[in-house]
Amino acid sequence: MIGKKSSRRSFLSATVASFAWLIVGDRATAAPANLAGTPCKVKGRERKVDGVTFVCRNAKGKLVWRRIPGEAAAKVVTVRALESSALELGATKVVDVSGPNGGIVGVVLTRTSAGITALRVNCTHQGFPVGRVGAVLECELHGSRFSPETGAVINGPAARPLTRYDASETNGGIYVTVTSA
Ligand code: FES
Repeated sequence: MIGKKSSRRSFLSATVASFAWLIVGDRATAAPANLAGTPCKVKGRERKVDGVTFVCRNAKGKLVWRRIPGEAAAKVVTVRALESSALELGATKVVDVSGPNGGIVGVVLTRTSAGITALRVNCTHQGFPVGRVGAVLECELHGSRFSPETGAVINGPAARPLTRYDASETNGGIYVTVTSA
């Protein structure tokens, strides 16, 4: 009888422990330290992982990685931007796609023999939209010119290349992966 009671008690405590692990344990193992990678050793040091910044903080006498408060994680969305048949070799088209935050993002698509390049339409000087003029992408506002194949600056005043997005082609469509960062 005693043996039965004691085994029932151990069964109950094991069940309670399992539930406790299910509720709390998962949260504990998903600690920012794991997300941030290597252990944190120097208080105040920052580390960026996948667009998220962590800072090394003292929590109850232990140094741990904590996500910087208020910083939104980078969001990513892949959208079908254009039908493949609508972009011939050598051609450029500007399309509007839905961004990760629900806003519209202008994307310049260019097909070359190397594949498809997707670039953010906004000039990196002051954000005016670029357009294809001859063999280049040109910003009419102050005259910056960019390569449609890579987004590299051909001439300023813009100093940085156009933001590039991943582009892929499948099932007769061109897909673009847009990030909010
Ligand atoms: S906004 Fe494009 S060159 Fe100034």
